[in-house]
Amino acid sequence: MNEHPMVGQPGGDLHELTTRPLKGRIIGGRILFLKETASTNDDVLRMGRDRGCKEGLVVVADYQSHGRGRHGRKWISPPGVNLYFTVLLRPPIPPEEATILSLMASVAVVDGIRRYTGIHASIKWPNDIMIGDKKVGGILMEARTKGGIVEMVALGIGINVNMHSGMFDREIRGLATSLKEEAGQDIHRPDLLREILGQMDYWYNELLKGNRGLIIEEWRRRDSTMGNEVVVQMLGSQGRPAGGIRGLAEDIDERGCLVIRLSSGAIRRVSSGDVTILRKD
Ligand code: BTN
Repeated sequence: MNEHPMVGQPGGDLHELTTRPLKGRIIGGRILFLKETASTNDDVLRMGRDRGCKEGLVVVADYQSHGRGRHGRKWISPPGVNLYFTVLLRPPIPPEEATILSLMASVAVVDGIRRYTGIHASIKWPNDIMIGDKKVGGILMEARTKGGIVEMVALGIGINVNMHSGMFDREIRGLATSLKEEAGQDIHRPDLLREILGQMDYWYNELLKGNRGLIIEEWRRRDSTMGNEVVVQMLGSQGRPAGGIRGLAEDIDERGCLVIRLSSGAIRRVSSGDVTILRKD
């Protein structure tokens, strides 16, 4: 018997989410569906600024014409197959602690995927969602600060749900996958999203209770980077290479930085970059 019965249902109409928000929750209490947009991160940042929208708003789109990834890369966002959504948060934390939100989001996405599909996803630092060696999702966090505090955060999440391998750009084919490719069946997008939002709401409440350390601990338990020899390609603005370092990925620190032990024994902390895992232990 299929332990995860929602696998195998058709991909679903995302519009239905708007009629079934997550009642009584911070995250997902209001869900706005757009058939088409440039980028859901832009929508949320604009709505947060111009309309003063409350935290917890989720904007989900069926298609993004200008989906953005980290370091100015594009995020391919074809219609009818995937999940592209952004959550608006207004956390009472200083800007230097905001990275915890993207760690929290990656824990929620991994758990949502595991619970809903049974697929064992993991996290590659900082917040690539992986199935084995292939990327299935990513998180783009953009914060706006005012007077030394976080005014709002747009947590943008893209997950390859029902895309087939032929739809990926040639450069990333072989490095990317989708849940359908892994499960061999269509995944119902609205219910997967509801599961992820429920997880995110749970962890956000833990954060508000001050349980930051717990989120870092849970992130470590889902991580597939640590204990491996890695090369970290540091990237400047617009994704231009800004040097790389090689060493053993040892840990993440309380700010979410990757702690790397160089062959000299010295320790380096990296706050952003692209990790390539050289050897699995
Ligand atoms: C990454 O580079 O790994 C992050 C990808 C984030 C993509 C999502 S899709 C929804 C939201 N809107 C965007 O334009 N980007 C994020």
